[in-house]
Amino acid sequence: MNQSILLDKRPLGRPRLSDFKYVSEAMPEIGTGEILLRTSYVSVDPYLRGRMNSGKSYIAPFELQKPIISGVIAEVIESTHAGFKKGDFVSGMLEWKEYQKSSGKGLLKVDAGKVPLSAYLGVLGMTGLTAYVGLSEIGKPKEGETLVVSGAAGAVGSVAGQIAKIKGCRVVGIAGSDEKVEMLTSEFGFDVAINYKTTQHMRKAIAAVCPDGVDVYFDNVGGVISDAVMVHINQFARIVVCGAISVYNETSIPQSMSIQPLLIGNSALMQGFIVSNYQAKFREAMMHLSRWLSEGKLTYTETIVEGFDKIPQTFIDLFDGRNKGKMVVKI
Ligand SMILES: NC(=O)c1ccc[n+]([C@@H]2O[C@H](COP(=O)([O-])OP(=O)(O)OC[C@H]3O[C@@H](n4cnc5c(N)ncnc54)[C@H](OP(=O)(O)O)[C@@H]3O)[C@@H](O)[C@H]2O)c1
Repeated sequence: MNQSILLDKRPLGRPRLSDFKYVSEAMPEIGTGEILLRTSYVSVDPYLRGRMNSGKSYIAPFELQKPIISGVIAEVIESTHAGFKKGDFVSGMLEWKEYQKSSGKGLLKVDAGKVPLSAYLGVLGMTGLTAYVGLSEIGKPKEGETLVVSGAAGAVGSVAGQIAKIKGCRVVGIAGSDEKVEMLTSEFGFDVAINYKTTQHMRKAIAAVCPDGVDVYFDNVGGVISDAVMVHINQFARIVVCGAISVYNETSIPQSMSIQPLLIGNSALMQGFIVSNYQAKFREAMMHLSRWLSEGKLTYTETIVEGFDKIPQTFIDLFDGRNKGKMVVKI
């Protein structure tokens, strides 16, 4: 039998295991021009939380009683498709299933010999592309500038901070544990990192580590952490609004500081973005990310949890910061 994980209920606030349903179903059989895939790695991502809500967004909500879809690396185990052969590995937006069939549409072949397969979900996948595009299109970091990144020890944040270092910035990271803060400076080359969970006065802490103010803020978390950074922005600062995980589980509209006077007074730019709207930049991004990796200028870490049945809990664990770098489930 094949295993599948469905969205059973729309989470109210923080997602719970009971919002998901495990079902057994018959193994899929392929027809002409199709491939049978065995899931190897599943990406769990904070943005999936938004798709679990109903209502209008940049992407359609997940349907109840249907499998969740996320980034997946899978192995082709049968093929009647001219473009794929048994033993190929592919990356694509696929269902939370152990086995599934596909027409091949939207799938990219990935090279298992080049980097570990899971890297195609992280540094050489959607989160690496997000860091690159957010900085190249909005943040535009320049040598000598100060860049602050929140969610710094996560998949996007750790890559964004390292790219800013490559561009010659002074980089300050904000993360949620002493271990993460230590990793950012010792392994990822950040200049300074702050543990927001043990820092009493974030505004004062940011002032202390950014004596020349903040030129670029790469925001992955929103909320009060971002308010503390925003009061220190410089003239012509750029604020890359990538994510707002601190408010994804809110059940009412969060109260926030009025930031308009800061933007006006500093002639600052604040822009949100969705990585999938920048597909024209992906080839350039992959070229740079791959080169920096091979040159040793860029490194990455992953938290890999094993077991198909662990996917929902691993997703929930993102909201407790249980990952360092990209959170991935190995099947
Ligand atoms: N715009 C786009 O196209 C795009 C694409 C990908 C991702 N994103 C966004 O980018 C952000 C990072 O995504 P990711 O995939 O790299 O995830 P991630 O950073 O690898 O994982 C999430 C991290 O968020 C932190 N966090 C959780 N709850 C928090 C809270 N209440 N306050 C502050 N930090 C909290 C945790 O780290 P700590 O231990 O540090 O708290 C956790 O490890 C997310 O907001 C995501 O939605 C946007």
